[in-house]
Amino acid sequence: MERETTSTKRNGLLFAVNRERFELSTFDPSTTMLEFLRSHTRFKSVKLSCGEGGCGACVVLLSKYDPVLEQVEHFTVSSCLTLLGSINGCSITTSEGLGNSKDGFHPIHQRFAGFHASQCGFCTPGMCVSLFSALVNAEKTDRPEPPLGFSKLTVSEAEKAIAGNLCRCTGYRSIVDACKSFAADVDMEDLGLNIYWKKGDDKGMKVSRLPFYNPSDQICTFPDFLKNENNSAMLVNYKRYSWYNPFSVEELKNLLKSNLVENGTRMKLVVGNTGTGYYKESEHHDKYIDLRYIPELSMIRRDHMGIEIGAAVTISKAILALKEEKKCGLHSEGKAVFKKIADHMEKIASGFIRNSASLGGNLVMAQRKNFPSDIATIFLAAGSMVNIMTGLKHEKLSLEEFLESPPLDSKAVLFSVQIPYWDLNRNNTETDTKLLFETYRAAPRPLGNALPYLNAAFLAEISHCKTSDGIIIKNVQLAFGAYGTKHAMRAKKVEEFLAGKTLSLGLLHEAVKLVRATVVPEEGTSNPAYRSSLAVGFLFQFLHPLVDACAQFSNSCLDGYTLLENASKIKCNYNEFDHLQNPALLSSAKQVVETCREYYPVGEPITKSGAAIQASGEAVYVDDIPSPMNCLHGAFIYSTKPLAWVKGVKFESRSLPDRVTGILSFRDIPKEGENIGSKTIFGIEPLFADDLTRCAGQRIAFVVAESQKVADMAAKVAMVDYDIENLEPPILTVEEAVKRSSFFEVPSFLYPPQVGDFSKGMAEADHKILNAEIKLGSQYYFYMETQTALAVPDEDNCMVVYSSIQCPEYAHSVIARCLGIPEHNVRVITRRVGGGFGGKAIRAMPVATACALAAYKLCRPVRIYVNRKTDMIMAGGRHPMKIKYSVGFKSNGKITALHLDILINAGMSADISPIMPRNMLGALKKYDWGALSFDIKVCKTNHSSKSAMRAPGEVQASFIAEAVIEHVASVLSMEVDSIRNRNLHTFDSLSLFHEGSAGEPLEYTLPSLWDKLASSSSFAYRAEMIKEFNRSNKWQKKGISRVPIVHEVSLRPTPGKVSILWDGSVVVEVGGIEVGQGLWTKVKQMTAFALSAIQCDGTEDLLEKVRVIQSDTLSLIQGGFTAGSTTSESSCEAVRLCCNALVERLTPLKENLQEQMCSVKWDILILQAHSQAVNLSASSYYVPEFTSMQYPKLWCCSERGGGKSSDWGNHNFES
Ligand SMILES: Cc1cc2nc3c(=O)[nH]c(=O)nc-3n(C[C@H](O)[C@H](O)[C@H](O)COP(=O)(O)OP(=O)(O)OC[C@H]3O[C@@H](n4cnc5c(N)ncnc54)[C@H](O)[C@@H]3O)c2cc1C
Ligand code: FES
Ligand code: FES
Repeated sequence: MERETTSTKRNGLLFAVNRERFELSTFDPSTTMLEFLRSHTRFKSVKLSCGEGGCGACVVLLSKYDPVLEQVEHFTVSSCLTLLGSINGCSITTSEGLGNSKDGFHPIHQRFAGFHASQCGFCTPGMCVSLFSALVNAEKTDRPEPPLGFSKLTVSEAEKAIAGNLCRCTGYRSIVDACKSFAADVDMEDLGLNIYWKKGDDKGMKVSRLPFYNPSDQICTFPDFLKNENNSAMLVNYKRYSWYNPFSVEELKNLLKSNLVENGTRMKLVVGNTGTGYYKESEHHDKYIDLRYIPELSMIRRDHMGIEIGAAVTISKAILALKEEKKCGLHSEGKAVFKKIADHMEKIASGFIRNSASLGGNLVMAQRKNFPSDIATIFLAAGSMVNIMTGLKHEKLSLEEFLESPPLDSKAVLFSVQIPYWDLNRNNTETDTKLLFETYRAAPRPLGNALPYLNAAFLAEISHCKTSDGIIIKNVQLAFGAYGTKHAMRAKKVEEFLAGKTLSLGLLHEAVKLVRATVVPEEGTSNPAYRSSLAVGFLFQFLHPLVDACAQFSNSCLDGYTLLENASKIKCNYNEFDHLQNPALLSSAKQVVETCREYYPVGEPITKSGAAIQASGEAVYVDDIPSPMNCLHGAFIYSTKPLAWVKGVKFESRSLPDRVTGILSFRDIPKEGENIGSKTIFGIEPLFADDLTRCAGQRIAFVVAESQKVADMAAKVAMVDYDIENLEPPILTVEEAVKRSSFFEVPSFLYPPQVGDFSKGMAEADHKILNAEIKLGSQYYFYMETQTALAVPDEDNCMVVYSSIQCPEYAHSVIARCLGIPEHNVRVITRRVGGGFGGKAIRAMPVATACALAAYKLCRPVRIYVNRKTDMIMAGGRHPMKIKYSVGFKSNGKITALHLDILINAGMSADISPIMPRNMLGALKKYDWGALSFDIKVCKTNHSSKSAMRAPGEVQASFIAEAVIEHVASVLSMEVDSIRNRNLHTFDSLSLFHEGSAGEPLEYTLPSLWDKLASSSSFAYRAEMIKEFNRSNKWQKKGISRVPIVHEVSLRPTPGKVSILWDGSVVVEVGGIEVGQGLWTKVKQMTAFALSAIQCDGTEDLLEKVRVIQSDTLSLIQGGFTAGSTTSESSCEAVRLCCNALVERLTPLKENLQEQMCSVKWDILILQAHSQAVNLSASSYYVPEFTSMQYPKLWCCSERGGGKSSDWGNHNFES
């Protein structure tokens, strides 16, 4: 890519990033904006996480000038999908562009930090940009001026501002609070925990303490130099690359006719390029034709027949246009159809996708690739038409014909789509006919980036039946889609069946049967029965209110018109009721944090260390470290077979593809080294499969190339030659593992003893459940930052590796063993991790090791940012398992005996799997099962190794315990809560069955916590209210429950080092890694607290003087690993020991100085200490005493049905 700095008449690409001018005369048109920003600019706040438009980590604000209206429009887009060629003449603003540590942070950054809305921070810059866009656009409205310090944004808009931005660490409540704090109509009482105010502060005080926002302090998002630039039809035509912006249909036709699209040329028509979020490019296109500049494709035309929307119009603009119909004085029914279509389209993807995704792109994907489109379904029910151009031929087809015709070829162009205006009374002949139109959608999430399981849209003309006082369905159009069908389709049989009939329950019953037979997902579709039942449910939801209306009014003497009006009103009420299910996105909650001044600032809810630079995007993650000279990029080639001989890896061309430097496998490991990729106390996992691959997803080789994109592409096209000769079939199920006795050994100290006498317990039972089965699946970590490392060779056979890892010490030793060099030749550096959840503990080691091996062999720096797909395939994740249980219980719900047979699928290597039995039994201790017997097998299978993931084993065990409890409750028809209550361990039963776990009577807090939760949440009262609600509603919609959890906490030895510099600032190193849990913040607080014991002036500001720095395995050894929710605390203790030593060393000097001057300032004391050669650096290695190594931590959580309160908590997890 060549960058020019002068402004000339040009064919190249011109744009601005954070007001800086960028002009490119050549570029590869397949380059995304994200690739460009991250590799060719200093703006690294745009993060790559999903690469599919699904998470918002890469969101930027795109500003575009409309020379006709002389207006700049601002909207967000996902930079991971937006192609560089399509931003010509635009201005990009990233989070750094809003503010930064040098010029001052933007109030958005400050408030994200102040509301504790950033943990690992990987998602935060994208969130900030989304909010900024909402603020900018709210200011453009003609709403009244907001109060001082606020914007014109409403609370409801603020809540939606970040819809589609995913965060894996922080509770959304704090993020939304940060957003809502800008809204003019916010109730300050609703805003949760923050650093700005304390309980009891009045509203004025609260407002005055928020970082001030002044809407008129506008950031320049569109520099003037872009306004006068002319666009050229041909943006770039260089070597084999070209990007065209045809300005007319003629130009487009000429391009399509020209030899640039002859066979063999890889040409692509493009609008928003969001289609690649769903269909990854399987080939490299080098010629792009951007359709957005052709007026016919970008127009929106209205007349009395309907609305015609150009195919290149974005979904966002189409929504606005359809809503504008409200203002056009159209008849209400016609308007309602448009409005319903617009409302449905607001559920498609997220704002930053809708802002660039076109209607045409969506429909072409639906037509050509069977994409499960919402637009196709709702447009189909509304009777839409499309205009297409195939070759020189223009055609107008019904959408149905279009969808059913053979896939469009790459030269066919969709021009526009026409949605008719439904005005039944246009000719004034049928005044008694009413129109009903509804759309439906069921998806994993109601808003934001979840494709539907099924969508539907129904349009019906109904009239009053004069003879029977009922409602006649004159005509109906029923469209269903996305349920595992080639394309959206009309349920013609059902339509024909209903047409002309009078509505009744019997008719509805028959129609529903027909729908069930019609909407049948294709073979291989997931959850087919659920999808068919959705279709049934939606039709029922559509027609049943009308049946109700008939029943309600049949005995009254209403005329036909009133009957219909009432029927529509009833329907309307139902619909409103639907909306009321989610009146606001969030329910309210309160968090009260009590702190104690005695240990100030320990325990204070202060701003997370580094939160503001995380928000502005200046925080440096491994992939943000600039590439050293000659840096290469790696990608893994992994096995696609569960068990096979690997005979070789090759490329189609036989030689290495262009720009690929090499390919490494186990054969490239130095002879002094070892094929090791990770280690735990249970053994090692090889870095690469040797001659035999033992699971799909096992690393076979590592391709090294000049860029990450080239390396990924090469890994994708590499062909592995497999052979399964003389191999037994792979073990793919736990049952098969049992059959073939394929297990990992569990050391006896990790296999707890059985509890009580199971047979006796069963004999005492009044009821028994025998051999019930539960199956638990796996789970992927979805850290926002995928696995990443950078290895830089150093002098004298040394290797420095930057790794995003929870246990650098282990990676250090694995790398040394793999390369066959002494450990003092290796240095692993970790500053921060963009989300770990356990997945960056063991599974990060092979990534760092592969880079180190390649760098060692090629004597060049090598880095990797593992793409999401490879990461998901290789990660392993949570252990799936199969459980059989038999339980005996009394009629009053007391459980007397439980037996568990548990088969854990551990995958191909031991990893941490042998600890699973112990962890599981720990979590089961919450209930007194009477007798508890179990048989737990850790099965070795040909799957990827399962690893530590957020409370490994404990999560599954807690699930099992609750499944048993619920099963017992359902057999006895008793409230689940009462069964839980009855079976909670008392101190005595806990001591009896699990000696040593109960501690002292006062330490066992589960029963008292249980009661406290009931009273603080008014549990009994709320349970009664919910019962009442359910009693008076047709559907059971609400529930409430409280669930106890016990978690055994263990402390591990941890090192620390505190050094005081000449100016009194303090630098701290600890073994623990900052993975977003706030470890650095706690360590800073502890340092400030412990050093303040010196009792001199200025120590109250010590917090500001402390910096915790990156972990470096040579600077601080024995760092251990960050997991188990205690590393912050043990790191704090290590630091406290260091500070105590420093205070002891400083005390004589301080007393001396105090005698000379009445008060001693911290800075003076330190200056003097340096001059007098006091050792101002102290290290420690905190080794917990055996008694404090383990203590059970008990707590309860409550959760609600019909809402998501448990999802919104502000978690503080480490692993
Ligand atoms: C994260 C995410 C979530 C999504 N969720 C949903 C959802 O819930 N429901 C839903 O319906 N859709 C959903 N989509 C799909 C989205 O609506 C489409 O990706 C988008 O509309 C495609 O438009 P585009 O302009 O980006 O097309 P592009 O990606 O530019 O093009 C897509 C394809 O169509 C071709 N093409 C584009 N325009 C024309 C034309 N006028 N004539 C001929 N060929 C053309 C292109 O060559 C390409 O092959 C989602 C997409 C993403 C990324
Ligand atoms: S949306 Fe672009 S990285 Fe996820
Ligand atoms: S803070 Fe949002 S992903 Fe970690």
